[in-house]
Amino acid sequence: MATVKVLDPISRIEGHLKIEVSIDTVRGLQQVVDARATGTLFRGFETILQGRSPLDAPDITQRICGVCPVSHGMAAVVTLDRAAGIAVPENGRILRNLVLAANFIQSHILHFYHLAALDYVDGPNQAPWQPSWKTDKRVSGAAANALVGNYVAALAMRRKAHEMGALFGGRLPHPPTYRAGGITATPRPERIDAYRAYLNELIPFIQNVYLNDVNTVASVYSDYFRIGKGHGNLLAYGVFDLDSTGEEKLLNRGRWVNGRRDVLRVDVGSITEQVRYSWYDDRTANLNPASGVTTPQYPKRGAYSWLKSPRYQSIPYEVGPLARMWVNGDYSNGISVLDRHAARALECLKVAEAAMGWLDEIVPDAPVIAPYEVPDSASAYGLTEAARGALGHWLNIRNGRIENYQVITPTCWNASPRDGNGRRGPLEQALVGTPIKNQAEPIEVLRVIHSFDPCLSCAVHVMRPKKEAQVFTVAMGSGPAACRP
Ligand code: NI
Repeated sequence: MATVKVLDPISRIEGHLKIEVSIDTVRGLQQVVDARATGTLFRGFETILQGRSPLDAPDITQRICGVCPVSHGMAAVVTLDRAAGIAVPENGRILRNLVLAANFIQSHILHFYHLAALDYVDGPNQAPWQPSWKTDKRVSGAAANALVGNYVAALAMRRKAHEMGALFGGRLPHPPTYRAGGITATPRPERIDAYRAYLNELIPFIQNVYLNDVNTVASVYSDYFRIGKGHGNLLAYGVFDLDSTGEEKLLNRGRWVNGRRDVLRVDVGSITEQVRYSWYDDRTANLNPASGVTTPQYPKRGAYSWLKSPRYQSIPYEVGPLARMWVNGDYSNGISVLDRHAARALECLKVAEAAMGWLDEIVPDAPVIAPYEVPDSASAYGLTEAARGALGHWLNIRNGRIENYQVITPTCWNASPRDGNGRRGPLEQALVGTPIKNQAEPIEVLRVIHSFDPCLSCAVHVMRPKKEAQVFTVAMGSGPAACRP
């Protein structure tokens, strides 16, 4: 008889996530036999956007999240550029990349040290390390002390990455310089030099400390290279345009299907959102986000999440750094908890080193933005990547105003509930089979969850609740964007 364990809310993530796991003993091994992921919070960003000027989209969508705002800004401006068929000047493309690179670097460092590391090491007997579960903390002695010291050092590194991005973002989070047609920052030589100086501190930290600490964890938790695989399907929209065509990217677009040998192309028209187990009207199921409708229905029989279930040709795909590095041919060791950490750390270094090269491509005094006129009517989408995975915005403009705006975030892909075929979301599937030592402290479950780096503030974006819909007041938050709907 399986025991059902509910973890609510999950700590050390962005936003509010409930995970329900069923634990049973199968062939002598106590393990997770089923899992349900629930996004427990709803918000109203898509409603806010309707009827507004399309030029407001970069600023408003960035408020979806305090961790991934730059990615929302990027997705919004790419969508607007495409809506007007505009070519962004080279300098504008490079400066946008540099701000996003800074955000990736801070987010990856944040993820490993401040969100995930405490699943593997028991810190000193004081906050923020205690109270904590004690089960199966294998990093000990001098290695534990070093990791705890680097946890503290990583806070300063994150601050440096934020300051670095603010040089061309104006500030971080929520940079105001991302505009349709380019960016409003100017690449003054002293700012280029300052960005380079920050990279000269960050790159050695990533190379000698972050990567080394991932290896330390991997050396004592090698079983986690076999835990948390999930469906094994990987999807990347690609990010960091290397030329003005948008075709050449530092991390390419593509998808990988479990068991296949080749990276396949991505057809945006094959993306739909399912709602069988989400609190939305079943009549809105299977729509491409270009014609997406969000009609809440609460309560609803069988439903258990405010997240919809994005699927590609009806199949669940994992998104994130591992998907990007895999699709790009930079990582092929495996798909697991530790592979996600390793690929993320390697990607962090790749992005930082690429940013160093982009600084040399900036042409002083060349334009950073092209004149932009909002089209009277247009439909467009913009695909990019947040640190935690593929991000897409879809926009319809009518009479010069936003008629409809849809967002599919990386955590919607990863933490989605079951789909219309009853297939679990990627995180749910990754949890199944996870061995559990101590039911009272199922830290193994947290390790799998954290390896996906969920961002629930991004993932839930619901439209107007009906009068009878229940409104939750959520007072517990683990991140800067915690809010009351
Ligand atoms: Ni986010």
